[in-house]
Amino acid sequence: MRIAFLIIAISLLFLGGNINEQKSQLSEIDKKVQNLISKMTLEEKVGQMTQVTLQAVSKTQGTVDHKHLLDEDKLNEAITKYHVGSILNVFDVAHSLDYWHEIISKIQDIATKKTKLGIPIIYGIDAIHGANYALGATLFPQPLSQAASWNTELVKKIGAVTSLETRASGIPWNFYPVMDLGRQPLWPRLWETFGEDVHLACKMGKSYIKGAQGSNIGNKDKLAICLKHYVGYSFPINGRDRTPAWISERMLREYFLPPFQAGIEAGALTIMVNSSEVNGIPSHSDYHLLTEILRDELKFEGFVVSDWEDIARLHFRDKVAESPKEAVRMAVMAGVDMSMVPYDFSFYNLLVELVNEGSVPMLRIDEAVSRILKVKFMLGLFDNPYPQQELKEMFASKESTELNLEAARESIILTKNENEILPLSRNRKILITGPTANLLSVMNGGWTITWQGNEEKLYPKDKKTVLEAIKDKVGKNRVQYVEGISFGKEINIKKAVSEAKKSDAVILCLGENAYCESPGNIDDLTLDEIQLKFAKEIINAGKPVILVLLQGRPRLIEKIEKDVTAILLGFLPGMEGGIAIADILFGDVNPSGKLPITYPRKPNGIVHYDYKPIESFDVNTYNPQWAFGHGLSYTEYEFSNLTFDKNEISPDENLIVTVQVKNVGKIAGKEVVQLYLSDHYGTVSRPVKQLKGFEKVYLNPGESKTVTFSVTPYHLSFIGRDNKRIIEPGDFSITVGNLSGKFSVRK
Ligand code: BGC
Repeated sequence: MRIAFLIIAISLLFLGGNINEQKSQLSEIDKKVQNLISKMTLEEKVGQMTQVTLQAVSKTQGTVDHKHLLDEDKLNEAITKYHVGSILNVFDVAHSLDYWHEIISKIQDIATKKTKLGIPIIYGIDAIHGANYALGATLFPQPLSQAASWNTELVKKIGAVTSLETRASGIPWNFYPVMDLGRQPLWPRLWETFGEDVHLACKMGKSYIKGAQGSNIGNKDKLAICLKHYVGYSFPINGRDRTPAWISERMLREYFLPPFQAGIEAGALTIMVNSSEVNGIPSHSDYHLLTEILRDELKFEGFVVSDWEDIARLHFRDKVAESPKEAVRMAVMAGVDMSMVPYDFSFYNLLVELVNEGSVPMLRIDEAVSRILKVKFMLGLFDNPYPQQELKEMFASKESTELNLEAARESIILTKNENEILPLSRNRKILITGPTANLLSVMNGGWTITWQGNEEKLYPKDKKTVLEAIKDKVGKNRVQYVEGISFGKEINIKKAVSEAKKSDAVILCLGENAYCESPGNIDDLTLDEIQLKFAKEIINAGKPVILVLLQGRPRLIEKIEKDVTAILLGFLPGMEGGIAIADILFGDVNPSGKLPITYPRKPNGIVHYDYKPIESFDVNTYNPQWAFGHGLSYTEYEFSNLTFDKNEISPDENLIVTVQVKNVGKIAGKEVVQLYLSDHYGTVSRPVKQLKGFEKVYLNPGESKTVTFSVTPYHLSFIGRDNKRIIEPGDFSITVGNLSGKFSVRK
């Protein structure tokens, strides 16, 4: 077991100023950490490793009808008696900035003024698509939709605004980004990911982190992000949340580890553990993953926090630990530095006992605590742990709302547009119907004001549903609204059908109600029966149907897809989603979103775009509803002049690829230029193609641009038979749009 205080190298990345200044700042922090640790009792140290939820120190829960109340006696006890170092979450609804300031100030008052060492608390929150637990915050498209924009600059800006608005509530730690790869479409947390592709997820995650942490997490508008959920959580075999994944070491290294590695390289200082198990080993007890790979190979030097109650679950759920105490020993010795306990002080009591008995060495405790204290120092909490009043002025600014609208517009995908029915002309008579037409919650999903995000009553009154935004755009008189069905319930289908007959076109809004984590489990990816039945009745009315899908995962729609004229895939476009959808439907915005996942056609047709040759051999085919990277536009783009700087490179060289893209249509638009690499032969079967570069470019009609990509040795590499990353010489192809070319790698 290593001792800590070795955080220098990676930490240097985060501090502004010149290198020498940074080095001295960091060694200053190291000295302070060591100094502090030398004064701490075992109890104080273990307290730093303990995190409780706000509920544990609350009198009453906040709900729609009544206000949350802190229990100051319990809070005092937690901090002064149990020395807890961290608190998280809400209980159970978002707070106003003022109330956050009140809570955080009370907490920090106790921590800094009523304890011997005055160590500030690190408060953590899930700010997934913006500061979702601060009332009135800018709530962006959810991560899957952000990935659908394929716009890394946009995602970087979203990271920056999220940090600013989270810090504005006085919270310096965000349990995000989710670096799990979205390769299991049933999984109810798919929409929290950046999609199925390694390259896209790495780029999106890195951009987000750059925006969120900036060059110094101690800046007042920055915070510490938390990569989660390390690793393999997103690939449950049965699709249900928190169920086993079986992932071979090669697959783990090829697909699931790289996004975490990218996050560490981008400067992540905290990581949360996979709440489930991989290959039969609950991740919280997995020394191989948490120490051998994470520390020794990936060189992560921040601290590892458990997920919710997951140390205790090693005993009462997973049954790998015979007692709660053994569970604590296993997790701490595997490499967990902080326990999200979260309701009581059991972890604290048991760990103190374990150290006193000699079952957990003090060195391991010092290692964990020094990692935690270091992040607290880097965040500037020892200088000022209190909320910054001036950030309130910058909260939910006009610019952030504009950014949010831009993000929503870029994230929506036009997957079908027969007879160019879209954009719709404004003087048509339109029927709008369906369960997702007039709700904000269906565009936001979980982690919105509440955990489940489904308390529509709590949503801001000034944001527009799809219906409201369309009415605003074309005038109330042109639009007829009939709900038709709600989720799981018929309301007035007959009326909807008769109104459909009287209209020129129908905008049919279907999808999913908001959900988060296990409550979102499903056993069938197919869109539910009642929605499909409703869709068929509306289609039978005989008018062109424009289907708008608002949902967190690709619900199967094969049964109705061919009978609708156009489809807009919104996933979860956030608070400005209604306006963005109306803008696209009526042509004020040219759609530019592309699928960040494969959209399956059939329940068992879950094949990713980077499938293996055998998956399209003989009777096998890759036949999704829509392929990864698909997305239409109201204009057309043409690719030409795909050129390589060399035809042959050595394994350690970059290949420079250029391609020209031209807008050959009549309106301006943004196109995502996507570069795919195919390795012709390999000692491990190679995917038919893999995304290795992309760039979103804006083009006026008639305009062309040259896009340059660098294909690096890392791009050529893969995990070989011995589970190590290798490059094999041979022939490769590159495809961009309808163009492709060959090059060779020779020793
Ligand atoms: C989730 C995490 C989240 C944590 C704290 C858990 O249930 O799995 O993603 O960060 O709760 O809210």
